[in-house]
Amino acid sequence: MGAGGNAGPHVVRRGPSRIPRMATTHRIALLPGDGIGKEVVAEARKVVDALGLQIEWTHLPWGSDYFLEHGQMMADNWVETLRAHEAILMGACGWPTVPDHIALWGMILKIRQVLDLWANVRPARLLPGIPTPLANRTAADIDMVFVRENTEGEYAGVGGRSHTGHPHEVGIETAVFTRVGIERIVRYSFELALTRSGRLVSTTKSNASRYGYVLWDEIVREVAADFPGVTVEKVLVDALAARMVSNPGSLDVIVASNLFGDILTDIAAAIQGGMGTAASANTKPGSSEPGLFESVHGSAPDIAGKGVGNPIAAIWSAVLMLEHVGEPEAAARLMRAVEAVSLAGIRTRDVGGTARTSEVGDAVVARLLAGA
Ligand code: IPM
Ligand code: MN
Repeated sequence: MGAGGNAGPHVVRRGPSRIPRMATTHRIALLPGDGIGKEVVAEARKVVDALGLQIEWTHLPWGSDYFLEHGQMMADNWVETLRAHEAILMGACGWPTVPDHIALWGMILKIRQVLDLWANVRPARLLPGIPTPLANRTAADIDMVFVRENTEGEYAGVGGRSHTGHPHEVGIETAVFTRVGIERIVRYSFELALTRSGRLVSTTKSNASRYGYVLWDEIVREVAADFPGVTVEKVLVDALAARMVSNPGSLDVIVASNLFGDILTDIAAAIQGGMGTAASANTKPGSSEPGLFESVHGSAPDIAGKGVGNPIAAIWSAVLMLEHVGEPEAAARLMRAVEAVSLAGIRTRDVGGTARTSEVGDAVVARLLAGA
């Protein structure tokens, strides 16, 4: 089984030493999903196959096409199917033919919640050669990691609707914050901060709310007592959004609630060159549940099927996946190849190039085969 979702060197700057192991076959579920998810996951698989590891892929045809045929996004036995794997490499989920809340609660949000993949780790680092929209900023200024709480908060799925059709129809969406849920994500973030700069930002909106984020702030204070080596700063989420743009170099590890983490990581993606470059790991640290690795971007119906989507986010997600399954050297090789390719200018149009999706994947493979 996987390494329990411990963050690897592409998140951790100063990783623990690893014990060499015998080569094992990794069972990976491939879940391309919708739209460009299919195109970018194909590239991610292609580059992982070029690493020469023993991998057994299971292709799962779930998503919006599957929904139109079967009335549900995933097969009935989806939990057992996923649990028979160490990791899931997912593309994207959501398509105009299926209402978003049905597609997303039928797949990605369901997987996160049912498998209790509570840690969503999203590195936001500017790769060499990729342009950032921030003036006068370089790769040295943009190297953050977001730790997003991934199962509760504003995504708890708790609420209701009533008075349907009346002028006073209501929709209530309740954010749920539990001590267990907050403490585990906060503790994880402190541990991650220890392996990097020792600086952690915790972000809430506890000035305007009275319960959930106030509890969050209290737990951060409690946990901080166990981590004298970490400097923790409490930053309100609105101020943090501004600071990410005005002074990204002042930020390293950031822990956020589910919705705030969602929003902030889109800003972070833009800063690091766009949605096409942003990767994520959804894991349950310390457990043997499979991790789910996916691009932060969606299915992009506007460019789907055209072969122009950026595969970097999916490939980077595969790097995080390799760390999760205990293949840090392969992960590092793959990341170096991605960096070399982007530096060499083989980039899709969203990041200032002219290459097609498959050309970027081919270039990464060529780099790997050349022994880079
Ligand atoms: C993300 C996505 C999802 C989220 C959507 C597709 C439900 O935006 O992974 O960031 O909001 O978590
Ligand atoms: Mn999002």
